[in-house]
Amino acid sequence: MRRALCFESASVDLFRFFLSLAALLILSGACMAEATEENEPPLPLPVSINALMVALVDWSAHEIWDAGYADTLTDRDWLLVRQHAIKLASSGTLLSIGGTGKADKVWVTAPAWQEYTRELTKRALDALAAVEVEDQAALRKAGDGMLGTCLGCHDTFKPETPTEGIRHVPHYDYGESVIPEPE
Ligand code: HEC
Repeated sequence: MRRALCFESASVDLFRFFLSLAALLILSGACMAEATEENEPPLPLPVSINALMVALVDWSAHEIWDAGYADTLTDRDWLLVRQHAIKLASSGTLLSIGGTGKADKVWVTAPAWQEYTRELTKRALDALAAVEVEDQAALRKAGDGMLGTCLGCHDTFKPETPTEGIRHVPHYDYGESVIPEPE
């Protein structure tokens, strides 16, 4: 009898334990849902697409092109090219989000825009793969392909004149510039 009682109270305890466990799980689930709702959205791009082009995309692309056609590449050169390929791969993502430029919001809604941004990242990853095996011919091929992506997107979206007058090397007058002086 005593044993039976004991067993009974043990199973009641067990029942209580599972009940509180279930309550705990439901509660923590609710807390997690609350936390997700409260989470901030990802940080938006705080500069314009044009600024990103001039300050990041164009610089890094030129490094890839120069390295592809250089006579020799030292270990340090390969390391630098790797960094630039990583920057370009990430630029595709940033370009797909768009930033503070006047037309940015309209551009990023176009399916062709999104395709070009993905293509840029893919070409950059091709360059990165070439860097991993230090294959200059493959790097050159990736760079040439990337040029096609730049020109394709510019033909489709880039207006005649830049929307802003951001210059590559603002403190250095190197004569002919791809970016006209601000009016
Ligand atoms: C997804 C589309 C897209 C891709 C890919 C792209 N660009 Fe651009 N780029 C633009 C647009 C649009 C502008 C003009 C932005 C503005 O005027 O606000 C621009 C502007 C520029 C500018 C600023 C100067 C100018 O002439 O207006 C440079 C430099 C530039 N791009 C270089 C490149 C290079 C180099 C690549 C390839 C490695 C590239 N871009 C890839 C869309 C693209």
